[in-house]
Amino acid sequence: MLLNGSDARRIRSQARFEGEFELPGDKSITHRAIMLNAGAEGTATIAHALMGGDCLSTCQCMRALGAEIDIDGDTLCVHGTPRFRTGVNLNCGNSGTTMRLLTGFCAGKGIEAKLFGDESLSARPMARVASPLSLLGADVRTTDGHAPVYVLPAPLHGAEVRLSVASAQVKSAVLLAGISAEGRTVVVEPQKARDHTERLLAAMGADIRTDGNRTEVGKSRLRAVDVCVPSDISSAAYFMALGALRGRTLCKNVGLNPTRTGILTAFDRLGVKYSVLNRRVSGGEETGDILVEKSPMQGIVLTAEDVPSMIDELPLVALLCAYADGESRISGAGELRVKESDRIRTVCELIAALGGICIETEDGFIIRGKKSLPGGDVDSYLDHRIAMTAAVGLTASEKGGNIRGAGCCAISFPGFFRMLEGAEKGAGEGA
Ligand code: S3P
Repeated sequence: MLLNGSDARRIRSQARFEGEFELPGDKSITHRAIMLNAGAEGTATIAHALMGGDCLSTCQCMRALGAEIDIDGDTLCVHGTPRFRTGVNLNCGNSGTTMRLLTGFCAGKGIEAKLFGDESLSARPMARVASPLSLLGADVRTTDGHAPVYVLPAPLHGAEVRLSVASAQVKSAVLLAGISAEGRTVVVEPQKARDHTERLLAAMGADIRTDGNRTEVGKSRLRAVDVCVPSDISSAAYFMALGALRGRTLCKNVGLNPTRTGILTAFDRLGVKYSVLNRRVSGGEETGDILVEKSPMQGIVLTAEDVPSMIDELPLVALLCAYADGESRISGAGELRVKESDRIRTVCELIAALGGICIETEDGFIIRGKKSLPGGDVDSYLDHRIAMTAAVGLTASEKGGNIRGAGCCAISFPGFFRMLEGAEKGAGEGA
């Protein structure tokens, strides 16, 4: 997906925001369901898949490798591929998950590949996957620690890998290589990052055991499994936040995997009133409906151990802090600097453009909450999470404003603005 900054969008201030929302499928689970099923025996149906730019990059790469994937709306049919093409160029677009997981996948399957991406992805660190994979014997070369990444066929052996960053992408890359290596591979994480790969591998019959932050895999053949993807809590979070700021929102069938629910921890500390209804388990993942009501919020403290379970929601949490009463301190979030933008810097600039106060620290923010912000014109920095955080901030602001480069939302949430504007229309009609 080509991102360009020319698309601006006006966001109106709204005193009240309410509605029921059915959010798109989870991005992390969709990537994994496509990739792992393409490498399995049999055919799988993936229902409620996310058809955002990042997951389409994964589809495109798997097809370039020879996988057959039929797409019908948000339902995918993935045919397990007995033999992959080799010597291929894989365009990962804006997607770090595609690039990092596929590096491990290609190393495991003995595929020779060049993985490249857009300007933002080309600036993100890739040695973090190349180094751990080399412990298994993989031959992965980066370009000064960045993309393009080159994978060359090499025999793999099991190894113990201690990760220095809490990264589900790096962990997954090692596990995807590990299931094709001779012997056993152990990955130890400094903190628990999202575990969708482990859950899906187990459901597909892999030899995998997890004990806290330690995951062990042996050589495995995977059988295809159907996946019904829950809605993405990272996408729901924007509408949950609007409920907390301006009314009452109900987000339905949201994934509640405990490695992903840090936003609820942040809500608890901020004083946001919410409840989780209809808790159930679907396809090995917990889900539920989240009802959020307008709440007075107070400043909070978040530290390194809080970060992994809300890594993608931190820009939004920082915004909520800007609307809270008192000072907030978020630390241990240095990983934000290597996301689609340097999210420590871009969040500070966003909050300042809205009229708030957010001070950049090396690994986080100090935010002086103001309860009400004037709004103004803001930039997305072509980062989908910054664009959607901006839209929430402007909707809750006194005057609203414009977002430059708003179209990048489609990376993880195509239809985001339609949903935002639909609720606006609904509120207007009801009034
Ligand atoms: C993801 C993991 C996280 C997250 C990203 C998706 C995944 O990145 O920020 O949006 O699907 O594994 P890291 O694992 O690098 O922290």
